[in-house]
Amino acid sequence: MNHTIRVAQTDIQFDCVEGDTVLQAAKAAGYELPYSCRSGICGSCKGKVLSGSLHNAGAGEALTPEELASGHALFCQARPQSDIDIAVHSIERIDPNARKTVEAKIYRMTRVTEDITLLQLRFPAGVRVKFKAGQYLHVLLDDGSRRSFSMANPPQQSDGAMLHVRHMKEGKFSGWLASQAAVGDKLKVELPFGDFRIQEDAAVEGAQNLAHARPAVLIASGTGFAPIKSILEDLFRRGTPTRPMALYWGGRMLQDLYMKDLPEKWAQQHALFRFVPVLSEEVVEGVRSGLVHKAVMQDFPSLAGHEVYACGVPAMINAARLDFTRECGLDPDDFHCDAFVPGEAVS
Ligand SMILES: Cc1cc2nc3c(=O)[nH]c(=O)nc-3n(C[C@H](O)[C@H](O)[C@H](O)COP(=O)(O)OP(=O)(O)OC[C@H]3O[C@@H](n4cnc5c(N)ncnc54)[C@H](O)[C@@H]3O)c2cc1C
Ligand code: FES
Repeated sequence: MNHTIRVAQTDIQFDCVEGDTVLQAAKAAGYELPYSCRSGICGSCKGKVLSGSLHNAGAGEALTPEELASGHALFCQARPQSDIDIAVHSIERIDPNARKTVEAKIYRMTRVTEDITLLQLRFPAGVRVKFKAGQYLHVLLDDGSRRSFSMANPPQQSDGAMLHVRHMKEGKFSGWLASQAAVGDKLKVELPFGDFRIQEDAAVEGAQNLAHARPAVLIASGTGFAPIKSILEDLFRRGTPTRPMALYWGGRMLQDLYMKDLPEKWAQQHALFRFVPVLSEEVVEGVRSGLVHKAVMQDFPSLAGHEVYACGVPAMINAARLDFTRECGLDPDDFHCDAFVPGEAVS
């Protein structure tokens, strides 16, 4: 039995086949709602249910109990059980030409640590693919499965993609990359995907308006630096930040911060940008120790009125969301993230 989903403040409505999620139903009807992990972890697909009933509304860890009680749901998990009315942050018609599948060539591979490779892909001559800073691509494997990796390059460099790949234990793609891949090998990739991007309207134009600009805290664990790098390089190319921005990058050992020089350079170049490296397992003089999100909490006992952009392993994302909203007064709507959930991606 089909259910009807109506989207508040629009004239959009579409059918949902019994058992499908709201996100799947929207896609089948030609609409795209915000999403990223599709695993109930990042919260990008969060919306409000105004009427009707859903199964699985709060499955996943991305909703606070308060949000659940006030009718919020994760639309990548929630399955309508009746006709429903929903409110969403955005809904757009899917542009069939916006996403491309291309055969990219491995142009360069740099093994920066034992378990991280920087992979430079080049698209075929003359092919450029539009994406937004913070988005990711799918690597299409021979067995038909897909893996997600964020673009670390800014969107102005659209003739290829730079990926920061962590080698996973028994990882199908990263294992191949670490042991067999060679420069010149071809890889099928589809892009772009995802909604992890900076809210530009939160920064009020012009330094004279600084008092009204909302400070942004960016937090990355390991290769979670990749989309943050794309976002910041994109911003810096368009001018120097007009609001305070602080990047906290966490790893276990110093070597996990495989490009530490780069954010250090940004901090010298931009007065309002600050960089704080944090190590959880190695003690290094002059570098903060502990969990990266705890370092943020020490420096920002109140995060009210701030925006947070978090990227990396799900454990860090979940801990940061919970602690920042419960203990530091961050509005849950101001927590934006990309969770690097392991495993296959869904197209
Ligand atoms: C939006 C997004 C962006 C990402 N960007 C990056 C990035 O820029 N850099 C990066 O390094 N990683 C990124 N990731 C994570 C990456 O996609 C995964 O780690 C992926 O599984 C790696 O593929 P693989 O073939 O190397 O390993 P896989 O073959 O997928 O296996 C990895 C490990 O995960 C285990 N596993 C498989 N499925 C699950 C599951 N459902 N739950 C728990 N464990 C599982 C496997 O047993 C194995 O040990 C991103 C993930 C998402 C969702
Ligand atoms: S897309 Fe639904 S929680 Fe990540």
